[in-house]
Order: sequence, then C-alpha cells, then structure tokens
Amino acid sequence: MTEVSSIKGSRIILALDFTHRTNLRSALKAISLLERYICAIKMNFHLILPFSCYELSEVNRLVHTYGLQSVADIKLNDIPTTNKIAISHLLRMGFDAVTVNPFIGAVGLRDVVVHAHRLKGGIIALVYMSHVGAPVGFGINFIDSNKQVTSLYQKFFQDAIACGVDGVVIGANRLEILREVSLKGSGIPIYSPGVGKQGGSIRYAAKNGADYFIIGRSIIGSKDPVKAAKRLQHQLSLNNATPIL
Ligand code: XMP
Repeated sequence: MTEVSSIKGSRIILALDFTHRTNLRSALKAISLLERYICAIKMNFHLILPFSCYELSEVNRLVHTYGLQSVADIKLNDIPTTNKIAISHLLRMGFDAVTVNPFIGAVGLRDVVVHAHRLKGGIIALVYMSHVGAPVGFGINFIDSNKQVTSLYQKFFQDAIACGVDGVVIGANRLEILREVSLKGSGIPIYSPGVGKQGGSIRYAAKNGADYFIIGRSIIGSKDPVKAAKRLQHQLSLNNATPIL
C-alpha cells in the first residue's frame, strides 16, 4: 500500500459502498472515474455477496490495471480453518488484503497472517471501530494476565504487532486512540474509516496519526464524486505535523 500510495499520490481508499444493488458495470465505472484520486478500493460483504467469482476477479483486474490495491472488508472472525479457506478464495479472486476481527485471539490472528503472507496477501486487523457502538466492545476494560487494567483495543493492538499484521483499523473519529496508538511508533499503518458521514475529519485524523482514509458515502454518495475526492485530497494537503484534538 505504501508503494502504491506514493505512486498514485493519494492516501484515500474508496469504499465502494453503493446503497442500491450494484452491477459489474457500475462498479467498474466508479473505479475508472476515481482511480486518479485513490490508492485502493475496499469492498464490503454487501457488495461482494451478489457478485460472482468472475465479476469480483474482473473488478480486481481493473483495479490492478490502474495500479491500485483491493481490500476485502469482511472482518473475518471464525475458526482458523474457515478463516484460511475464506482468505484463499478472496486472494484467488484478486483481493490484495482482507480485514480480520482480532476477537479470534492472537493464535488465530497469527495463523491468518502466516497464511495470507504465504499467498502474498495482507491482513488488516480491527483495533477500534468508528461506529457509535464501538466503545461498548473495543473500549471495554479488563484485567490482563499481568493483573493490569487494559482496554480491549490496547490488547488488540499488542496482538496486531505481535502477529505481524499489515495494518490496523482505527476510526477517524477516535482521535485520542489514533494518537495513543500512533505515538507508540510501531510502524504499522493505520487505516481510518469514519471520515465525513460518521463525523470524522480527514485533517484531524491525519494529524493524529492516520495513514490511510477509508471513505465511502462522502465520495460515492456525492453528486460530483470527482470533486468530492479532490476536496478531500486538498484537505489532506493542508496538513502540518502537529497533532490536534
Ligand atoms: P463511510 O460511508 O462512512 O464508509 O465513509 C466507511 C467504510 O468503512 C467501513 N467502516 C469500517 N470498517 N472498521 C472497519 O473495518 C470500522 O470501524 C469501520 N467503520 C466503517 C464501512 O463498512 C464503510 O465501508
């Protein structure tokens, strides 16, 4: 992602979240329209499900023709065998990375990372989601094995480092968490959804450590998606290095 992002000059990942049922042609059209302003696309379950393997491969073929990356955002969360088979299918259809829910535990997470890397794919793990209910899960405190009070997201981040994941997801509207995690200097790229419709600011998220911005409705749902993408790019270019909350 780092390489593609610097070649394309963008840190925006387009969430292809059409609200209506999408056909292959409209997905390909959106990618062609916006490829100059993004470094990757991301497809959710609701877009992947109605497509055939052939159609998904076609989407990913076009994505790669433009020098972009493709992420399957299915937040995988099952036993290792099931997770690994799902990853194999998705990578075979041309996805470059898959999102995983670290609730599977460190052993399960390491398993999927090793499997994906063997197949030349990447794993992006959730650490703190952007939706309103996230604090109830990701923010919950527990007593860890060293008898220390720890938040679940802190444990997820430690596991992500230990297991060698390729990226972590932290909401763009979670500035304190973004700052806390980025200041640890782990070098793991932070992917931030939640810009715009979920209340996050691309500039503030960037200033607090987000590396890539997963954006859907603010671009896809706009009357002029190209203008919307350009505006977000411009906001990012205004950044300086000082963290602000
Ligand atoms: P919007 O329209 O809000 O879309 O710009 C954001 C996209 O990102 C996904 N999303 C998340 N994915 N962790 C994730 O892995 C999150 O916390 C999160 N919040 C939103 C969402 O499904 C949509 O595709």
